[in-house]
Amino acid sequence: MGCFPCAGGDSSAKKSPKNKRIDSNNHKNNDQLNIKAVDTVKVEQCNEVKKETEQIADQTSVSNRFDEKNKSPEEGSPVNKARTFTYAQLVNATDNFKASYFLGEGGFGKVYKGKLEDSDQIVAIKQLDPNGLQGIREFVVEVITLSMADHPNLVKLIGYCAEGEQRLLVYEYMPLGSLEDHLHGHRPHKKLLDWNTRMKIAAGAARGLEYLHDKMNPPVIYRDLKGSNILLGEDYHAKLSDFGLAKVGPLGDKTHVSTRVMGTYGYCAPDYAMTGQLTFKSDIYSFGVMLLELITGRKAIDNTKSREEQNLVAWARPLFKDRRKFWQMVDPVLEGEYPVRGLYQALAISAMCVQEQPNMRPLIADVVTALNYLASQKYDPLVNPVQTSRRSSRGQRSSIDEKKPDV
Ligand SMILES: Nc1ncnc2c1ncn2[C@@H]1O[C@H](COP(=O)(O)OP(=O)(O)O)[C@@H](O)[C@H]1O
Ligand SMILES: [Mg+2]
Repeated sequence: MGCFPCAGGDSSAKKSPKNKRIDSNNHKNNDQLNIKAVDTVKVEQCNEVKKETEQIADQTSVSNRFDEKNKSPEEGSPVNKARTFTYAQLVNATDNFKASYFLGEGGFGKVYKGKLEDSDQIVAIKQLDPNGLQGIREFVVEVITLSMADHPNLVKLIGYCAEGEQRLLVYEYMPLGSLEDHLHGHRPHKKLLDWNTRMKIAAGAARGLEYLHDKMNPPVIYRDLKGSNILLGEDYHAKLSDFGLAKVGPLGDKTHVSTRVMGTYGYCAPDYAMTGQLTFKSDIYSFGVMLLELITGRKAIDNTKSREEQNLVAWARPLFKDRRKFWQMVDPVLEGEYPVRGLYQALAISAMCVQEQPNMRPLIADVVTALNYLASQKYDPLVNPVQTSRRSSRGQRSSIDEKKPDV
């Protein structure tokens, strides 16, 4: 990980905002990289508001431009006309934000399950916490980005409410919650996430990112790829969510967008964290971390572990170099039930994505091709008796490292 900081990042508590966010504009209590381990900014200081408004206007002008030209969805015109809701409608949908409808809480605010009265549709309603860690800018960017996007691997924004001080977002409800809930939540369901499911989730998330990078016009850098933003539908269909930090990619010959550093510790590319130069390869790095979480079952940052194991990428780097150690990286919960070749290939993809040099990281299209292939290679423990008889558990050496497929 080089000199990339390893601060913060407890993601276990469902009732409190998870995963420390990075914001380079905040200079109090800086750590070694001049980046405070805080969650996102509150848009309240005057100059900050001005800057944010300009940025929002920037984004809006992009959407207006395409509006005027009335182009096709791939070319950026709003394809998902978000509905507007009154606050009363959303109070009604959630039974006045009843505690039993509470789904979770992030930097933006609390999320509730609800039912729309007119259509009986089940939705997830996210309410901006005025004292929270994100602000109006994220709200606006979220609405604009999702209004211009339409893809099976991006969560659908049904509408929003902007009444008085209230800011709420209404999404399609994702019945299986977030990937983070499954991997590291209060009631982890890791056992349900077998190898095939993990590869399916990774491939789905990659397709969502490919849409943002390669299909949207203008292309979009996501900036917030992490387990809690990968939501799961029926049959573990993965969708990316939370586009409040998204940025329109560099235009013309430019390779990067200069911006303050925002993201989540453990997922943020070291080059972006150090220079503030955001590229599509910053998302690829975050994707590699998320894939590594899926393979290992470990958190991107885990402060409960020993120093050497707190940062997932730093822990994995030396292991990536030695195929004989690959078995040590796989999630022990899988109890040896995974394809050896598949593991090697998945680790190889992750290792390429988290390379220190951004230009060495693959393009998302190549990641999609590789993961679609991996997800199509269904592993069946019953057809692989050798594999199941060599179950490995934490700290116990498995004999699978004697097999050395090409990666
Ligand atoms: N569309 C949705 N459907 C179902 N659950 C959701 C949805 N959006 C968010 N959630 C739940 O609410 C929690 C908080 O979401 P969010 O505000 O995006 O914060 P974070 O991304 O930091 O977890 C998520 O972890 C997830 O469990
Ligand atoms: Mg989220």
